[in-house]
Parts: sequence; C-alpha cells; structure tokens
Amino acid sequence: MTTERTLVLVKPDGVSRGLTGAILARVEAKGYRIAALAQLTPSRDLLAKHYAEHEGKPFYEPLLEFMESGPVVAAVFEGERVIEGFRSLAGATDPTAAAPGTIRGDFGRDWGLKVQQNLVHGSDSVESAEREIGIWFPA
Ligand code: PPS
Repeated sequence: MTTERTLVLVKPDGVSRGLTGAILARVEAKGYRIAALAQLTPSRDLLAKHYAEHEGKPFYEPLLEFMESGPVVAAVFEGERVIEGFRSLAGATDPTAAAPGTIRGDFGRDWGLKVQQNLVHGSDSVESAEREIGIWFPA
C-alpha cells in the first residue's frame, strides 16, 4: 500500500469558532501524520486555482467570498488511504445531513446563510491532492 498525502483545510467557520484543534486532533487520533501546517487568509487568486473545476456553478462565488473572509488552516496529512480516510471523517458536504460522529455532523449545521459553512475541505483523489498541495504549499 502506498502512503498518500491529502490537503485538509479548516475553513473560516472552523477557525473562527475555535475548532481547529478539535478538528486536527480527530485526524491525528485516527493515525494520520501532519506533514505541513499553515494559517493564512487565502487570496482570490489562490482560491480561483483551488476551486477552478467549480467555476460557473451557482455556489462558486459565495464559496470564494466565504473562503477569503478570514483565516484558513491548511494542513497536509499523510498515511495509507488518507484521502478516503479524511473524507470519511469529514462527513457529507451538507453539515445538517452529515452523520453524527463525523466532523461536519458533530460540529456543523445550516446557519441560514447563502453559503454552505461546512468547516473542512479534503482532497478527493491522488491527483487533486498533489495539485492542491502545490497551490497551498508552493515551496
Ligand atoms: S459538485 O458540484 O458535486 O462537484 O460539488 P461538491 O463536490 O458537492 O462540492 C464542491 C465544493 O463546493 C462546496 N459546496 C458549496 N459551498 C457553498 N455553498 C454551497 N451550496 C455548496 N455546495 C457545495 C463543497 O463544500 C465543496 O467545497 P470543499 O472546499 O471541497 O468542501
């Protein structure tokens, strides 16, 4: 089994609610290792690259406005099947529907806002992970 890497983002709602530690602790507790960690408020240019495949979708503009609204914690986690493992920990995209026991299911809900505040992002494939890690950690 090849060790994978994935990009995990704690989105502005997770950082502003003081949930960064609790979220990262769950990922570490499952046995994945932090390979890189940074806090930054992402630029529009960075976000346009990160979300390029979603340009034109109805949620694209509100999503970028939300993501540039405050600090984000970006982490590279590594481990066997970490891409699938983190997405399992994160839970369904809609935090109201996400299963209890998942990050979104335990900490998230619909706040009645125009944008989905779902706390975390995780890469969805090996190719996406390498592309996204290169965007958030260019060095
Ligand atoms: S798609 O169209 O099926 O590819 O979309 P999906 O994979 O579910 O989501 C892609 C990213 O967009 C976010 N998303 C949203 N953000 C704000 N509002 C709404 N309504 C919304 N719907 C989807 C979703 O969380 C994904 O972003 P990341 O950063 O990967 O979580």
